[in-house]
Amino acid sequence: MPTLDKNITIGVIGAGTMGAGIAQVAANYGHTVRLYDLDRAAVKNGIAGLEKGLARLVDRGRITAQAVEDLLARIVPCDDLSDMADAGLVVEAIVENLEVKQTLFQALESVCDQETILASNTSSISITAIGAVLARPENLLGMHFFNPAPVMKLVEVISGLLTSTKTIRTVADTATAWGKQTVLAKSTPGFIVNRVARPFYAESLRLLEEKAADESTLDAILRDAGGFRMGPFELMDLIGHDVNYAVTETVFNAYFQDQRFLPSLIQKELVAGGLLGRKSGQGFYDYREGAQKPLPQFAKSEFYPTEVAILGELGAAASLAGLISTSGISIKSEAGDGYIRFADVALALTDGRTATKRSADEGIENLIVFDLMSDYAAQKVISLAAALQASDAALNQAVGFFNKLGKNVVVLQDSPGLCLMRTVCMLANEGADAAYQGVCDVADVDRAMQYGLNYPRGPMQWADSIGLAAVTKVLENLQMHYGLDRYRTSLLLQQYHAANINLI
Ligand code: NAI
Repeated sequence: MPTLDKNITIGVIGAGTMGAGIAQVAANYGHTVRLYDLDRAAVKNGIAGLEKGLARLVDRGRITAQAVEDLLARIVPCDDLSDMADAGLVVEAIVENLEVKQTLFQALESVCDQETILASNTSSISITAIGAVLARPENLLGMHFFNPAPVMKLVEVISGLLTSTKTIRTVADTATAWGKQTVLAKSTPGFIVNRVARPFYAESLRLLEEKAADESTLDAILRDAGGFRMGPFELMDLIGHDVNYAVTETVFNAYFQDQRFLPSLIQKELVAGGLLGRKSGQGFYDYREGAQKPLPQFAKSEFYPTEVAILGELGAAASLAGLISTSGISIKSEAGDGYIRFADVALALTDGRTATKRSADEGIENLIVFDLMSDYAAQKVISLAAALQASDAALNQAVGFFNKLGKNVVVLQDSPGLCLMRTVCMLANEGADAAYQGVCDVADVDRAMQYGLNYPRGPMQWADSIGLAAVTKVLENLQMHYGLDRYRTSLLLQQYHAANINLI
């Protein structure tokens, strides 16, 4: 299929945050871009914003002043929709409203060529619904950029029920030529990224509600055990709770109130109080002048054993063995099922049961469970939870052991699946459901999350590295503990696990 050649004109409608950025991306490739907005001042402001951003790149030596001048010269402000007549592709990034978008595309159909491709940057509206009023719905698709469009690598290419394969291929290839990574998705609520990302926020919100730990401690786990650039609470504060809550609520309602996507009362309350995050000065954290961000709560202990026994395989935590040896603690290997033992303490990677339940099930006193880390050697924070039956001394010894391995230790309330493990398992579960339902393929889940949100690892590959037996076990145990359909295991995960096949 052809990409749209440089000499083809691109139309961009809406010159706000997204439209201006999309215009820059297309002009950067070499297209002439016609930029139109209902509000004439918005076009001026949009271009002025681009000039500022590009000037910073010139200062940093990333682009030449001449290239910027040429790029900007290719962006042509327009006063009338009829100026889109010669465009081969028109991308709209106007207000997020179905009727307004439908009216715009109907107008574009009447001014543009029969072959012109029409694209919507909508984050939440069905492409099929927009196309319902069009004469040529086969030419309409979603082209979902991420903010800021010139920086973020991903474009989700979204097909409605009537979108033609040619339209999809042409736009996917064109976006690739523009330097983007593209993933193909069916028009479904949240597409890939906004759907699969829900558990990143939801599981931490739930842990906060259950008083497992405070915001800054949970943020530290996702960041410094998981490798995410930001923790969920600082990220929600940055996005704005109005926006983040609205996405969650839209996805929840669009999936007929599937409990998987249940919004959080804590976040609803923040929105109701106008505590929208950074933009309003307060959210989970206080951004007002003089306010200090609370530090994560780490436990400390001087105790550490000189020798530990590793019983059987540690699964996803196998690399702990190397870390233990290099810290000067000697290791005995014994038969067993995945415990580290010293004195009368037993440590185990969470399997989704609370430590208390597992302790009772397996008749182990002094059981301390620990969380997943994306890299046990490189990451700095590990979280633990003690069974109610365990002694304070046992917990203290477990803390000292991980301190000796160079870790900052968080002690959580005894929560099923702890924090990082349940988050990663639920991300993979959602990605698996998206793939199972034919929204996208498995590999595109990972590419979408890595290029759209800078996730440190794709959730599907991450699940493979944990092992699908362990992942499905965690999900089953979460469901057993909470008694909620929210934690049901995706059939796709069950199938791959049963067949002993990796997802990727
Ligand atoms: P924005 O509010 O910054 O810009 C929208 C622009 O569209 C405004 O300048 C407005 O004057 C103009 N406009 C409104 N109605 C119009 C019409 N009928 N004809 C022509 N121009 C019109 O909005 P933003 O954030 O750029 O979002 C635009 C679209 O992109 C929405 O559909 C949004 O859901 C989607 N989107 C937004 C992202 C974000 O992070 N802001 C990310 C991905 C998609």
